[in-house]
Amino acid sequence: MSSTDYTQMLSLRGRVFVVLGAGQGIGEEVVRALSQCGASVVCVDSVLARAEQVAAAHGGVAMAADVTNPDDMRRVFGEVAKMHSDGPLGIVNVVGMVIRNELQAEDEDKGSWKRQFELVLDHAWLTLHFGAKAMGDKGGCMVFIGSIAGHVVRSGAALAYASAKAGLHHLVKGAAHELARSNIRVNVVAPGLTRTPRLVANNAAQYWEQESARIPMGRPGETSDVASAVLYLASPLAAYVTGNVIAVDGGSSLGAVGAFKLAAS
Ligand SMILES: NC(=O)c1ccc[n+]([C@@H]2O[C@H](COP(=O)([O-])OP(=O)(O)OC[C@H]3O[C@@H](n4cnc5c(N)ncnc54)[C@H](O)[C@@H]3O)[C@@H](O)[C@H]2O)c1
Repeated sequence: MSSTDYTQMLSLRGRVFVVLGAGQGIGEEVVRALSQCGASVVCVDSVLARAEQVAAAHGGVAMAADVTNPDDMRRVFGEVAKMHSDGPLGIVNVVGMVIRNELQAEDEDKGSWKRQFELVLDHAWLTLHFGAKAMGDKGGCMVFIGSIAGHVVRSGAALAYASAKAGLHHLVKGAAHELARSNIRVNVVAPGLTRTPRLVANNAAQYWEQESARIPMGRPGETSDVASAVLYLASPLAAYVTGNVIAVDGGSSLGAVGAFKLAAS
């Protein structure tokens, strides 16, 4: 019989975590989850006031940085490298919101395609680069927030976003393979529709009712659903899990459940 202590494996005491995009929504909930399990969390956000508010609420450290800016990322991970002499390092990168960019829009906006890739994918490369360097011999884990849009085609209005998230999922699998020997695990949590404060503020109750009807489990996700999956991947419970994309979507990406009836035969 094994002597594994599973409750101990949920403890992140003595570990430093960096949450990029910590200032609200999923990022803030991830900070809450990691802190409750004992981690020291560095809360990074492009809006300093948001980072400070979340850090103050959860006993973390606030840093202002734009994750798409290589100089900012070098500075953040330079600071972090000095803080984690005691144990492995964890990184959660949450940044990557949708910019609407329709394929057949009247005024073609090439900038939004490029900016969308910067916001979703380019900074993941920077995170892998600077993060792996900061982890060094101690190893650690990285979790990126992808999206089920990265593997299910839904709306042409978010095609650049979906393409960039698909690229993120692939990048993570390749990086996981490359970094496994350095004892660095890399995974993705891919949410379906989630009730983040930004989306709740911008969509009326009718939208949530309509969308809930399309979701096999009958409701959108909460930020805590996403943070729970991040926590699992960040903890020693997932010590042998790398290169995975875990969908947290109430079954939305399983296909068009109930959309057609089998013909009698
Ligand atoms: N809400 C959903 O339905 C849903 C579904 C699938 C995936 N996601 C993904 O979840 C993630 C988080 O979404 P959210 O709505 O919780 O958060 P959000 O997009 O509102 O932003 C999170 C934080 O990131 C900060 N931020 C934005 N750009 C930054 C930058 N360049 N550098 C540093 N910080 C920056 C913001 O100030 C904010 O505090 C995104 O990657 C999104 O694609 C969300």
